[in-house]
Amino acid sequence: MQENNLYNITHTTTVVETLKELLTVSNYSSLFVLVDENTKQHCLPIIQTSLPPAVIIIKTKSGESNKNIESATYIWKQLTEREADRHSLLINLGGGLLSDLGGFSASCFMRGIDFVTIPTTLLSQVDASVGGKQAVNLLGLKNQIGVFRSAHHVLIDPVFLKTLPSEQILSGFAEMLKHGLIQDETHFRQLQEIGISDHQLISDEVFGNLIQQSVAIKKQIVRADPYEKGIRKALNFGHTFGHAFESFFNSSGKNITHGHAVALGMICESFLSNKKTNFPLHDLLSLVAFFTTHYPLRKIHRQDYDTLIEWMTHDKKNKSKQINISILEKIGKVKINQIVNNGDIIEALDFYMQLYQ
Ligand SMILES: NC(=O)c1ccc[n+]([C@@H]2O[C@H](COP(=O)([O-])OP(=O)(O)OC[C@H]3O[C@@H](n4cnc5c(N)ncnc54)[C@H](O)[C@@H]3O)[C@@H](O)[C@H]2O)c1
Ligand SMILES: [Zn+2]
Repeated sequence: MQENNLYNITHTTTVVETLKELLTVSNYSSLFVLVDENTKQHCLPIIQTSLPPAVIIIKTKSGESNKNIESATYIWKQLTEREADRHSLLINLGGGLLSDLGGFSASCFMRGIDFVTIPTTLLSQVDASVGGKQAVNLLGLKNQIGVFRSAHHVLIDPVFLKTLPSEQILSGFAEMLKHGLIQDETHFRQLQEIGISDHQLISDEVFGNLIQQSVAIKKQIVRADPYEKGIRKALNFGHTFGHAFESFFNSSGKNITHGHAVALGMICESFLSNKKTNFPLHDLLSLVAFFTTHYPLRKIHRQDYDTLIEWMTHDKKNKSKQINISILEKIGKVKINQIVNNGDIIEALDFYMQLYQ
C-alpha cells in the first residue's frame, strides 16, 4: 500500500473550498466523478461549483447486488470511451459501496489512476474510506476480488449526512461505538451521551469532531497493521456474529443494515467477552441496554443456529474451521485471536434470544 497516501484524510466543513483547492494544485488531464442515483441527487449539487465544466459524471446503481465486476467493467468502458489516461482522476462520491467499487476500478484502470474519495454516508466516513481496502463481490461472496490501495485523498464533511436516512446513520454509528469500545472509553462515553436518536439535531461541528475521533482510532489501528496480520483484527469486534446475522437476515428477505447487524453482533461478542475474560457483568448489561434502545433485536430461532454457525465458519478471517474473534477485556480495551467453539456460540445465541423472550 502507498504508505504516504494512507493518511491523506481531510476533515472539513467546507468541502467545496477544500475540493476546489485540491483540484487547483493538482494537474490532472481529465476529471471523472462516480455517483449513484442517490448521491447524484443529494451530493453532487453540493460539490458542483468546485468542479470544472469539463467534468465527466459516471453513474452507477446503488445496492450491494451492483457491487460486482460488471459495474467495474462499465466504469472502465466509460473511462476508456471518454479518453481517460494515466493522469486522469476519479472522484468517488458516495457510500462505502461506491467507494469500494470506484477505488477498485481506479486501482486497476491502466494499472492504477489516482482517485479521491468523498464519503457521503456515516459508515463510509468513519470506516470504509479509511484503510485502503477496495473490492467487489463475486458469486455472492463479499469483497472476493480486490486490492489494498489508498485514495490519493479522502475529504470528509458531515454536510452530506443531512439527507441520509436515519437507518444509515445508525449503521455508521455502530462502527463508531465499536471504535470506542475497542480502543477509547472516552469516545464511547461521548457517543453514548449523544445517543444519535435524532442526528439532525447534532451540529456539523459536534458531529464532525466525533467523526474525526473515530477516524483517528481506525487510522491508528490500520497504521499499526495495514495487512491485518495482528491488531487490525480488533476492528472485527462484533463482526463474526454481525456478518452471520447480516447474511442470515438479508438472505431471508428481512433486510438489515451492516451496522445494525454488527450492533447485534457486539451484544453476542460482549457476552463472550464476559465469559472468556474479566469483562464486567455490569458493563455487559449496560451495553445491552444501550444497544437495544437503538438497534431493535431481530428474532432468531434455535433451528437457525446451524445456519448462523455455518456463516461464521465461512468468514474469511478464520484459519481452517476455527472461529477466531476479538473480545473486550474492558471498555476501551480489546483482545484479539480468541478461539471460540460451537458451545460458546450456542451460549451467546441463547443469551441473545433470552433478551427478547
Ligand atoms: N473498504 C472498507 O474498508 C469497508 C469498510 C466497511 C464497509 N465497506 C463496504 O461499504 C459498503 C456499505 O457502505 P454504506 O453503509 O456506506 O452503504 P452504501 O454505500 O450502500 O450506501 C447506502 C445508501 O445510502 C445512499 N446514500 C449515500 N450517501 C447518501 C446521502 N448523502 N444522502 C442520501 N442517500 C445517500 C446510497 O445511494 C445507498 O442507497 C459495503 O459494500 C461494505 O462492504 C467497506
Ligand atoms: Zn463493519
